[in-house]
Amino acid sequence: MKKNQYLILAILWFVFACKTTQKPAQNEQSKDLFSLFEEDANLKPFYSDKKGVFAKNGMIASAHPEASTAGIEILKMGGNAVDAAVATHFALAVVHPFAGNLGGGGFSVIRLKNGETFTLDFREKAPLKAHRDMYLDKDGNVIQGLSLKGHLASGVPGSVDGMVEMHKKFGKLSWEKVLAPAIRLAEKGVIQTEREALGLNNNAAVFKDVNGADLKYYKKTDGSKWQIGDLLIQSDLAETLKQIQKYKRAGFYEGKVAKLLVDEMAKGGGIITQEDLNKYHSAWRKPIIADYKNYKMITMPPSSSGGVALLQLLRFVEPFPLQQWGWNSAKTTQVMIEAERRVYADRAKWMGDIDFVDVPSDKLISREYLKSRWADFDSTKATNSKDIEGGNLPGYESKETTHYSVVDKEGNAVSITTTLNGSYGSKVIVAGGGFLMNNEMDDFSIKAGVPNMFGLIGSTANEIQPEKRMLSSMTPTIVEKDGKLFMVVGTPGGSTIITSVYQTILNVIEHKMSMQQSVNALKFHHQWLPDRTVFEPNAFSENTLKTLRDKGYIIDQQKGTIGRMDCVLVHPDGTLEGASDPRADNTSVGY
Ligand code: DON
Repeated sequence: MKKNQYLILAILWFVFACKTTQKPAQNEQSKDLFSLFEEDANLKPFYSDKKGVFAKNGMIASAHPEASTAGIEILKMGGNAVDAAVATHFALAVVHPFAGNLGGGGFSVIRLKNGETFTLDFREKAPLKAHRDMYLDKDGNVIQGLSLKGHLASGVPGSVDGMVEMHKKFGKLSWEKVLAPAIRLAEKGVIQTEREALGLNNNAAVFKDVNGADLKYYKKTDGSKWQIGDLLIQSDLAETLKQIQKYKRAGFYEGKVAKLLVDEMAKGGGIITQEDLNKYHSAWRKPIIADYKNYKMITMPPSSSGGVALLQLLRFVEPFPLQQWGWNSAKTTQVMIEAERRVYADRAKWMGDIDFVDVPSDKLISREYLKSRWADFDSTKATNSKDIEGGNLPGYESKETTHYSVVDKEGNAVSITTTLNGSYGSKVIVAGGGFLMNNEMDDFSIKAGVPNMFGLIGSTANEIQPEKRMLSSMTPTIVEKDGKLFMVVGTPGGSTIITSVYQTILNVIEHKMSMQQSVNALKFHHQWLPDRTVFEPNAFSENTLKTLRDKGYIIDQQKGTIGRMDCVLVHPDGTLEGASDPRADNTSVGY
């Protein structure tokens, strides 16, 4: 070979070596982060710089400071995490009427200090008189608003039964003591934050519309508008809570309170009867327990889709070097979006109440199945949701919810998400009872292919049947690491619950954020249909957005926020980090 041929070969080798040793992913990550921090000083990956709350003996992260304080009061009296969770639930029903409830339902994931795990499904059920087409007119068209507002929108409430069951099985402190903080808050009153005053003012007309012009509830005695700092006293609710304190389950599902509820339904054209209340029971279910890398996820089986969907999402991205690719970089975001698209398609096809339909949960979360679902993925372009259907398995949705996470000093942990569905649920306030009813019936697929309030569609698996539970997205989750309690997570947000929990877990595990940073971190969401990704302002750098848009992704900044997380992380020395979302009044209290 001639000398200049050697030279050409050397140059070619140099160019090739530079290309192969250059890690495009890392460059992309550093470029993204670089642009986040230096090219545009206003662009931050966090919604706020709120700091976590640190304590050793117990932590409650919830939507309201009074509710978290109620839980801590119970812990300090010697109650355990379950006692504290129950106290927090009833306090939220008083101080957080957007979503805290007696007339709603939810899901509880419990991990005891010895590692035993339990899940309780206290989701509402369709009333006995419910039927598949109850929200359709004679031509088969959806009657707008019927599943959302008013008496017919409610499922049979599960929350009180759920709290009684949890306390019966695990409570240490007396039921009477656990109910006391909520009763005190209802009787003495709650100081309204700006958000709460606004909520009551904005809904005054609809409360009147649904409950009658003579409604006195949620009104100031002088008839003026609610202001920040006003005191909301709820005497009827205090009486209802006292009935529950005295008679436990029977204090709500039988007797005085039940009669008020049934009379309210009859008065407003609802269908919930005493028989529905007698028959309602929450269900202990086998938790979904599955690993993601060396972490164990303990989460909710259906009637919530949350647990299955979360495990699918995590395992979908397990093979990819997300940490190396970086938080919200184009590569990381692309595989997360594509996972979300496929998971929400499966949700629509396969999932419903397991007491009524056979949900192939194990298969849906199996790595083999998930791998097969990547077959049509092309990293150079966006997949079109029209081309994605729920997978084939051999042999076979203003909105408010609330989540609270509790850890006691012994390491018992409780993760609960509960809701009325929409903000103040169906807006029906049980006259004399002082509590709101849910509008959870909208979570059913009220007509095949017609989206619910969260844009989610469903199939026969989630059609209405008497006593069936409507499919949920609530994803209360506990994470274990090396056999020890590691994280307690959850959030409201309708269909965005699953993807918010997913991002919060990945932020800690893959992107090495603290619990609070992970909660503060800006979020995005895709749910198969509509085929579009939404993101909180500043969640992506210009570079990431351009890369994704060039590949065909429809990706829009939204005005609102995503998620209101309330989480607890256990640090290696046992210190608890409570992280409550800066996006609302959420507050962690520890001791
Ligand atoms: O169960 C569900 O998935 C919905 N009813 C949750 C509603 C919700 O999160 C509203 N909150 N923002």
